[in-house]
Amino acid sequence: MSHFAYRNGVLCAENLPLTEIAQRFGTPTYVYSKAALLENYAAYANACKKHGRDDKTALVCYSVKSNSNLAVLNLLARQGSGFDIVSGGELLRVLAAGGDPRKVIFSGVGKSRDEMRLALSHDILCFNVESVAELHRLNEVAGELGKRAPISLRVNPNVDPKTHPYISTGLKENKFGVAFEEALDIYRTAAKLAHIHVTGIDCHIGSQLLDDAPLLEALDKLIELVDTLTDEGIAIHHLDIGGGIGIVYDQDKPVAVGDYLGRLFTRIDGWRAARHGNAPITVLFEPGRSIVGNAGILLTEVQYLKHGETKNFAIVDAAMNDLMRPAMYEAWHGVQAVRQREGSPNTYDVVGPVCESGDWLARSRSLNIEQGDLLAILSAGAYGMTMSSNYNTRGRAAEVIVDGSEMHLVRPRELPEQLFAQEKLLA
Ligand code: LLP
Repeated sequence: MSHFAYRNGVLCAENLPLTEIAQRFGTPTYVYSKAALLENYAAYANACKKHGRDDKTALVCYSVKSNSNLAVLNLLARQGSGFDIVSGGELLRVLAAGGDPRKVIFSGVGKSRDEMRLALSHDILCFNVESVAELHRLNEVAGELGKRAPISLRVNPNVDPKTHPYISTGLKENKFGVAFEEALDIYRTAAKLAHIHVTGIDCHIGSQLLDDAPLLEALDKLIELVDTLTDEGIAIHHLDIGGGIGIVYDQDKPVAVGDYLGRLFTRIDGWRAARHGNAPITVLFEPGRSIVGNAGILLTEVQYLKHGETKNFAIVDAAMNDLMRPAMYEAWHGVQAVRQREGSPNTYDVVGPVCESGDWLARSRSLNIEQGDLLAILSAGAYGMTMSSNYNTRGRAAEVIVDGSEMHLVRPRELPEQLFAQEKLLA
């Protein structure tokens, strides 16, 4: 069920008309539905439970990069969620939001020494190591702190996720992970390092996957490797299948999370029964978009309507700096007028005020609007605010969470003065 729906001709977030949010906090503003967020998380948690997993044998590690607002992280932490981070900054956010560092996994190809120290000092669950050089650096840093770093190797299963090339990560030509063929040797090396403790195996093949077949194919390759490692006496306690399940932007028909997890657990259970005397293996997930993507919209106001010779433009107060996805990936986001009007629509390109031709949010949309109307850019909860910038010295948007009929400002709009407050003139 969508938590953004029309009531009496006005688009609402849960029970709250979006017009009230614009009136109180202005635009552009990201609006998230608490109920949608919790429902999307529950799809993972319930599927784990249904397949006999408890919090020791399955862990959802929400991918912080998709939406890192502290209130979002806190709501998920309260559900028992773990977190997938890619920087020291994200770890500090998780801690500030009350997340448990022992449920944190650290992905990313370029971890610095400082980031490793920070993560080790908080005893995170696991480092997802992405290269041999990183493995040696981690061994060194852990040694300096007198610790053993728990690691997984991020293995690149060379499976085609059939998604946008910019968000496909598991192919040979991608910068992520270690090649499947090299993984065994690197595990052997890792097992000999004094300050490394091999605990798991990891992969993440891409994002916005509509079908789970590539994920199950990747799983089969991990299983093969775990068997080889077990035969060599290298114990693997957890298997991390990454994130990647897609959401509805346009006509997309993503696999239901429960169905995907059902197939995944069935395969894992069959394998453990056949090869490992039913010894359990903990399963980790790193979902981002499927938890928060459809739980958020970007609320914006039409500043001007411009009727050109070949095109009509709706110039709105949100721009590419607020929502990068259209400019960066030609991503499609639904656009809805917050107040439905009588009469016939026009076709518009919805564009922002930034000085770039790439500054568009939607193209050729049929909209019945007038200057001053509000628009909702849909499916903007993931990789919206987190990828925003201050280009054109634009303060970033406000963020609001709606809970029933209540609105909570969880990040105020940035003021232009704040953007240059730290800058210094030459003497
Ligand atoms: N784990 C790792 C290691 C990742 O790199 C990612 C996303 C995730 C988990 C979460 O994937 P998800 O469940 O959200 O698909 N900015 C792009 C998406 C980039 C995804 C990067 N990695 C976009 O706006 O579509």
